[in-house]
Amino acid sequence: MTTRDVTISSDVPTELLLDLHSKFLLKYGENEDDFEFAVTDFLRISGVYWCVTAMDIMGQLDAMKKDEIIKFVMECYDESSGGFRPCTGHDPNLLYTLSAVQILTTFDSLNRVNANKIVSYVKSLYQSDGSFFGDKWGEVDTRFSFGAAAILFLLKRMDEIDWKPATDFVLQCMNFDGGFGTRPDSESHSGQIYCCVGFLTLTGGLHHVEVDNLSWWLAERQLPQSGGLNGRPEKLPDVCYSWWVIASLAMLKRVHWIDAKKLTGFILASQDSETGGISDRPGDMSDPFHTLFGLAGMSLIGAENNLKKVNPCLCMTEDVLRRHDLNIKYLPF
Ligand code: FPP
Ligand code: ZN
Repeated sequence: MTTRDVTISSDVPTELLLDLHSKFLLKYGENEDDFEFAVTDFLRISGVYWCVTAMDIMGQLDAMKKDEIIKFVMECYDESSGGFRPCTGHDPNLLYTLSAVQILTTFDSLNRVNANKIVSYVKSLYQSDGSFFGDKWGEVDTRFSFGAAAILFLLKRMDEIDWKPATDFVLQCMNFDGGFGTRPDSESHSGQIYCCVGFLTLTGGLHHVEVDNLSWWLAERQLPQSGGLNGRPEKLPDVCYSWWVIASLAMLKRVHWIDAKKLTGFILASQDSETGGISDRPGDMSDPFHTLFGLAGMSLIGAENNLKKVNPCLCMTEDVLRRHDLNIKYLPF
């Protein structure tokens, strides 16, 4: 079987277009009539987190309208459950709650919320088999295990939960290839691997991972021609996997197992040199999600001196975590 890959043409950008990316992110979401704005309704608060973090990585956080953003985040707060909605009119969910807590932490504004209520919300979604529901509707996914751990870590309330059943559940999602899926017996996927490795990092269980087996699987995500990374075998390369894969390798201390120069070329080629922003792959339309994860991936591989260092577990700048005295312990491997 031939490997699915993309061909990069010769007229793509080869430098990082930082100014254009800040303009792109600042403009995004301003026009409520935009098609993209309307269709991403259900993701809104996560969209704000992507923009805020991308701007922070570029050293441009001060250019953002902090007060307006905090006001929006607080409008998403659901008093009765203690969780956050993506925007008004939708249900609260663990992942939107994580985005809210990340934004508030980045803007040093966690004092705006009642942390006890958020902790209760997270605990209310914890199940007896160690899994977490994403919301009241009961979907189970290892993304939610990560979300729960990340929220409680940022709130400095890790001791609120017995992590043993949650760890056992995540370990049940480990596959023979060393990777992790959404639930037990589901196939390995780089996004879920990031969540499970991140969860185990935060809860002190990373020694359960088969480091070389998993890192080998992750390193194989790099496609030989374009240098981009895919999320699973036989999928096309996609800039966001520069985050899910590299962040996982960073927590496992194996970033050097991929060709950083080739990956940099792929991310740079996926920039839009007219509108700014980064897309999933060269020639596609740019968006804040791929802009954040492209920049964050470049920061992790040390490809660009003008980017701040990003934390591989939480996808927030190390500056923010240092400011809040949030220390993550990694294993040396
Ligand atoms: C790929 O999704 C990515 C994942 C499954 C991981 C998502 C992780 C979170 C939402 C946790 C919070 C993340 C951070 C950075 C704090 P996809 O639907 O694009 O996958 P596909 O490429 O297979 O379509
Ligand atoms: Zn993507």
